[in-house]
Amino acid sequence: MCGIIGILGDHQAAPIMVDALKRLEYRGYDSAGIATVEDGRLDRRRAVGKLVNLADLLVHEPLAGLAGIGHTRWATHGGPSVANAHPHRAGRVAVVHNGIIENFRELRDELGGDWESQTDTETVARLCERYLDEGMPHRDAAFATIDRLEGAYALCFLFDGEPDLLICARAGSPLAIGHGDGEMFVGSDAIALGPLTDRLTYLEEGDRAVVTRAGVEIWDIHGNRSNREIRRVPVDRQRIEKAGHRHYMAKEIHEQPQTLKDVLDLYLDGDRVVPPDGYDFAATDRIQMVACGTANIACSVAKYWFEGLARLPVEVDIASEYRYREGPIGADTTALFVSQSGETADTLAALRYATPRARAILSVVNVTESSIARESSVVFPIRAGVEVGVASTKAFTNQLAALLCLAILAARQRGEIDAAREAELVTGLRRLPALVSQALAIEARCEALAVKLAEATDILFLGRGPMFPLAHEGALKLKEISYIHAEAYASGELKHGPIALVDRTLPVVVFAPMDPLFDKTVSNMQEVMAREGQVLLVSDAAGLEAASDGVWETLMLPEVEPVFAPILYAVPAQLLAYHVAVAKGTDVDQPRNLAKSVTVE
Ligand code: M6R
Repeated sequence: MCGIIGILGDHQAAPIMVDALKRLEYRGYDSAGIATVEDGRLDRRRAVGKLVNLADLLVHEPLAGLAGIGHTRWATHGGPSVANAHPHRAGRVAVVHNGIIENFRELRDELGGDWESQTDTETVARLCERYLDEGMPHRDAAFATIDRLEGAYALCFLFDGEPDLLICARAGSPLAIGHGDGEMFVGSDAIALGPLTDRLTYLEEGDRAVVTRAGVEIWDIHGNRSNREIRRVPVDRQRIEKAGHRHYMAKEIHEQPQTLKDVLDLYLDGDRVVPPDGYDFAATDRIQMVACGTANIACSVAKYWFEGLARLPVEVDIASEYRYREGPIGADTTALFVSQSGETADTLAALRYATPRARAILSVVNVTESSIARESSVVFPIRAGVEVGVASTKAFTNQLAALLCLAILAARQRGEIDAAREAELVTGLRRLPALVSQALAIEARCEALAVKLAEATDILFLGRGPMFPLAHEGALKLKEISYIHAEAYASGELKHGPIALVDRTLPVVVFAPMDPLFDKTVSNMQEVMAREGQVLLVSDAAGLEAASDGVWETLMLPEVEPVFAPILYAVPAQLLAYHVAVAKGTDVDQPRNLAKSVTVE
């Protein structure tokens, strides 16, 4: 979603801000802008579309100044247009904003007059300007403005005549202050600030900050001055380059053997699972898992593992539904939240609902400095490194690996497996990076099949057991980056309705490893073929040997014990979507309408 950069520097701010905004592109955006203060004078430039349009504008209409704020906007209130792009300005005030001001209509009515944009953010600038008009000093005017806001925001104010002042606030959307040498920075995440500084202070919920080149002063939610820790957060530059790949998504798919090894190194010790933090799954009688999108699909796979291996009941909910359902949570229920970014607004809200009710709040996150991590009692990192592609790939397989380790731990703690079985499972886990490497060898076949699949208007994905959530992952990946309509069904459910869709124009991708459900899945696949559906069977050598007669095409994966299959079968789900998107020429890393981290509900 939207990205923020703020600079009080000793170099020209505009090029540094454009560079920082480029690093924020991965979050998804449809317009961008910057404002600077030069000789005390506030000015701004804004452009619709990709950052290159803003950069072009700056060539023709440069902006000087050592202090500035910048923003990439993902449209919520009002479509993508120059007028709606940030920074928003009213008189002496410019402001950039992530989040949604829920009471903006009320504030607009109160302020009256003409409005330049349709955004909620313009009201923030207008309100602050009014307080300045009333004679308030800058800090008081900004704080009085913030007092009036309802909703979610990360805000950064810049003022005419004030080249050494930024005022920031955080409520519901993350914001970090970067400490340089005689320079100070503000960023919506560590990636924005990566090359500028690795010394960061994360604002806490409700914090307000006054930033000058001399440092930062922070007030907490109760108005008390507080000293927040400065942490070293190194951002690995290597991991945010494309490393020779055409897209970040391709790079991230190919990183999986390494990222899986990284997470397994963290969770395995000898023959045992020893996670970085402890939790006693024997003391809980149920797990409530909550997440969105691909992270939710990881939970659905994990349900099979926790219930199958550890005999521990699991409920899985979509965060946007769960947060308003007000479902009962027993005091013995463990709540577990999965999120790559750790900032997804719905997941965070669900976590806050569960916090006073559940036995404990566990999270499985990639960004360990995130809000979800900071508000959890136990954090399980997934160590996937920075994931830039909007379509989640390596974070998904690392979420799965971490969740499988936790399920094995739970099985041991609950006496459902003995040491020998645990050692066997750990050996299987250690083989996974090499198997995923082998699985990546299907890429050329996926690329060839993609040419045909790219012509389809609808594609169906089928699977049974843990392959059913994998079918969902295949359909989600394909939809989000190729814009082809795709649906996932449990193979056995097909005959209860969706089989009516099947004809010779419908490609049907079937995930069917040789597992105890294989024959059942193949029977459902035959039902599809009997109606001329074009089946792409994804299986192992034994599965293809047994069932490839009459299918349209096949993809062969290495053989693996069924419990590990979901991690391996993620690879064809990702590669098929990726190559179909490339064949269709879509914007793979920043697909239309999508944002990497969804910080609004
Ligand atoms: O950062 P999170 O894991 O909380 O994000 C959840 C979803 O927004 C995310 O997985 C989304 O579905 C991906 N674009 C899927 O590829």
